[in-house]
Amino acid sequence: MNQYVDYERMAQVLQVSKDEARIMVETGQMPDSQPKSAQKTPFFSAQNLQIYHDDFLTSDVLPDESVDLIVTSPPYNVGIGYSTHDDAHEYRDYLALSEAWLKQAYRVSRPDGRLCVNIPLDKNKGGQQSVCADVTSIAKAIGWQYHSTIIWNEGNISRRTAWGSWMSASAPYVIAPVEVIVVLYKQHWKKRQPGMSDITRDEFMAWTNGLWTFNGESKKRVGHPAPFPRELPRRCIRLFSYVGDVILDPFMGSGTTLLEAWDNKRTGIGFDIAQEYCELAQKRLESLWQQPRLI
Ligand SMILES: C[S@@+](CC[C@H](N)C(=O)[O-])C[C@H]1O[C@@H](n2cnc3c(N)ncnc32)[C@H](O)[C@@H]1O
Repeated sequence: MNQYVDYERMAQVLQVSKDEARIMVETGQMPDSQPKSAQKTPFFSAQNLQIYHDDFLTSDVLPDESVDLIVTSPPYNVGIGYSTHDDAHEYRDYLALSEAWLKQAYRVSRPDGRLCVNIPLDKNKGGQQSVCADVTSIAKAIGWQYHSTIIWNEGNISRRTAWGSWMSASAPYVIAPVEVIVVLYKQHWKKRQPGMSDITRDEFMAWTNGLWTFNGESKKRVGHPAPFPRELPRRCIRLFSYVGDVILDPFMGSGTTLLEAWDNKRTGIGFDIAQEYCELAQKRLESLWQQPRLI
């Protein structure tokens, strides 16, 4: 049994029994008694891109060891949609969900496959938690190897509302206005096959400095509650994958990773549990195809 997991709540959310929830966390797969993924046919498929309207945690559409690079920003809460309720109970759920998807991601990654996970460094709403440290520990316990952590300086200081005890040492809050991209790999950091890199000298020099500064994306402009900016997957894809590699975003949302996979001549695969986001991603891709490629 895993100390982080509230199996009862996870079972409720995923609509399985408590034992089945435990099996899912331990094996990263659906128990045998459950039907396998119903969604074998992509929701959308064109130009080396595939979108699956499916639950990544339980999907078996991707074969073992088939993905070169995963770039993703997982949902904060368990379940569909985003709740504003934020307490210690939900943090346990979040860690349980992290364990389940990281196992599935491990299964589908090639031995030299890489994973870039965009998560908060920490949180203090509803109780301080070391999100980055906890998720990294869970990933390492599964077998992921640690490479580095990129600090994404979003420059979004205006979001700040909590000061704790104002101008008093009683209980002040300290919060860094940054997110992180934790970079992990399955077994071998050095790629095992030769391939073509398309990163420029200036990009390589700038992006191998692990402090990245660029603005976040507007939810309103994209039409999704938590999109990341295209710059984030663009840098990860150009720095960590070869032209033609298979790029996966298991929590695709508005499809930002797929836009960049296409623009950078990679194969892209995205999953989202919400049909409206699959439709949104398809729409964004189709409108991208009306424009000339950037490179
Ligand atoms: C933080 S958002 C990702 C946003 C994305 N990076 C973008 O730029 O639009 C997380 C997404 O994961 C989806 N999601 C949540 N649970 C899922 C699951 N089990 N399988 C697949 N997608 C899931 C949500 O619907 C949401 O769109």
